[in-house]
Order: sequence, then C-alpha cells, then structure tokens
Amino acid sequence: MKQQLEQIRTAAMKALEQAASPEELEALRVQFLGKKGELTAVLKMMGGLSAEERPVMGQLANTVRAEIEQKLDASRNVLKAKLLEAKLRSETLDVTVPGTRIPQGHRHPMNLALDEVKDVFVGMGFDIVDGPEVELSDYNFTRLNTPEGHPARDHSDTFYVTEDDEVLLRTQTSPIQIRVMETQQPPIRMFAPGRVYRKDEVDATHSPMFHQMEGLVVDKGITMTDLKGCLEQMVKALYGPDAVVRFRPHHFPFTEPSCEVDVQCFECHGAGCRTCKGEGWIELLGAGMVHPKVLAGCGIDPEVYSGFAFGVGLERMAMRRFAISDMRLIFENDVRFLEQF
Ligand code: DAH
Repeated sequence: MKQQLEQIRTAAMKALEQAASPEELEALRVQFLGKKGELTAVLKMMGGLSAEERPVMGQLANTVRAEIEQKLDASRNVLKAKLLEAKLRSETLDVTVPGTRIPQGHRHPMNLALDEVKDVFVGMGFDIVDGPEVELSDYNFTRLNTPEGHPARDHSDTFYVTEDDEVLLRTQTSPIQIRVMETQQPPIRMFAPGRVYRKDEVDATHSPMFHQMEGLVVDKGITMTDLKGCLEQMVKALYGPDAVVRFRPHHFPFTEPSCEVDVQCFECHGAGCRTCKGEGWIELLGAGMVHPKVLAGCGIDPEVYSGFAFGVGLERMAMRRFAISDMRLIFENDVRFLEQF
C-alpha cells in the first residue's frame, strides 16, 4: 500500500507539473483527490490493514493528500501568472506606432460660398429665413406681380406639381419675400438661401435645380441708396475692397425700379477678356425697390413703408469665387474635385 501511495504521489506531481490549463488542473484534482479518485480508492482498502499499519498508512495518505493539494495550489498560481503574462503580451499597445490617418471631409464649395455671403448679411443685421421648395403659384408668381398669362409662368419653364397649376417647384426664392411680409410687420431685414427649379437642360452654366439667395429690407424711408450701399458692401466683402460695382436698369415684375448689378471683371479690370466674355463686366444679381402692389398685397402700406429686394444665383457666385468653369462639377460630387476646397 505504501508503494501505491508513493506511486500516486509521483504520478500526481508529474501530471500537475505539466498541466497547461485550469481545466486540466481540475480534471487532475478529480482524478487523484475526488470521491472516486485514486487516493480515495487506496484509503478504502485501509480496513484490511493491521492495527499497527493502519495509523502509519493513514498518516502517509494524509501527507500525500496534503502534498498533492499544495502542488495543485502552486500549479494554479503558476498557470494564473502565465495566463496574465500572455494576456498582457497580446494586449500590449505600442504608442509609438504611427496612427492610421482618417481622411477628412471637405466643405462643399457651395457651402463655403454660402457661408461667406451669410456672414456678410448676418453682420448687417439680417435674419436668415427659409421657405418651402414646393410652393403655391400664388406666392411664386401672382403675389409677386406676375399674373396669369405672364411668360415666366410658361409650362416650358416651370415644373408644375398639380394639374391645375396651383402648386409648383419654386422657380425663385422670391416667394419667401411674400411669406415673410405677410407674417411680419416692418422693419424687415431677411436673407433666404434655397434651392430653386427650372426646366433647363444641363450644360456648363445651367441645371434644372440650382440655388438662389433672396434678400429683403422693408422699413420707413428705405430708398435706392440703401439698396446700392448694401449690395456694394456685399460685393466688396466677397471680392475685396477694390471691387467695382455697376448698377444697370432692368425689369422685374415685383420691383420698380429694377436693376441688375454687375461687378467689374477682376481679370481684365473692364478691358474685356475670356472670363467676362469680352464684356469687361460680370453679371451678379437682380435687385430693385419692392413694387408698391407687392407691399400692399401683404398688408404693408406702401405710403408708409418702402423696401428693396435682391436675388443672387449661388452657383454663379461660387463658380466665380473659386474659378470653377463648369456648373456640373458642383453637382457631380466627384471627390477629386471636392478635395480641392
Ligand atoms: N427672382 C429673380 C430671378 O430669379 C431675381 C430677383 C430680381 C430677385 C430682383 C429679387 C429682385 O428679389 O428684387 O431672376
């Protein structure tokens, strides 16, 4: 029996030494010390021993058990330390390795141009407002002094949404003027950028969807001088203090008098070149004094109040600002183009 116990001890020590995982250790514990384990099996045979042998073997068995238990503990600790070490090694972070660069997005040139213009008008105390893109013909045309039968309302130019032509995709941001004036009493100073739609074929300078920015000022004693000063300030803020502005008579149904505003070509300074198509001037926007009929239609007394308005094409402005030669580039979303801004 003594020999059996010694064998168990030797076998257990060897096996425990080689165990590679906590699961293996547990299996060994069951194998040697468990209720059906090898040591228990030997102890069960104690009954057959003589009275002198029994305490001796009992003591030996206890010693073997204690030694195996100690070894189990020790092996457990060694394994734990090894696992921890392996974990630490596998999770090491080398903070000196260069990072992966995350490609940064760019602001679209249209937004860059828009933000510049917004800045100018917010600086002059204008509110930024918004209006619906699906608009009533009434707001887009009639109340802007553009009655039925006017060529601007033609089906070849306008996307009508309903068969009775009452609803359309707005062709200009000017209906926002009406929406503001019918809900707000003067003084009014508003600036409204947004998408507009016209039945135009796509080419280098046209798109069926483009952007405009509308401005409107209504107060007592507003004159053409205010219009000129305000727009000159905008042009100089955008194109530099040396920019030269020209006001040219024009016609719009909702303003009287009306004008178009040109800026002197910055390439040739008025001499005529490719950029200005030989004109010496580049057309920037339409503007005018708000027609008394338009004011009255919104419940604003034209005897007391007057105002000016203007409308700017944002694509044109961005194209000029960043020397973009083809409008299609603005909408194609080719990253090779967009990355340049
Ligand atoms: N809505 C006009 C257009 O699309 C531009 C315009 C002209 C707007 C004169 C105005 C204005 O507010 O006063 O051509």
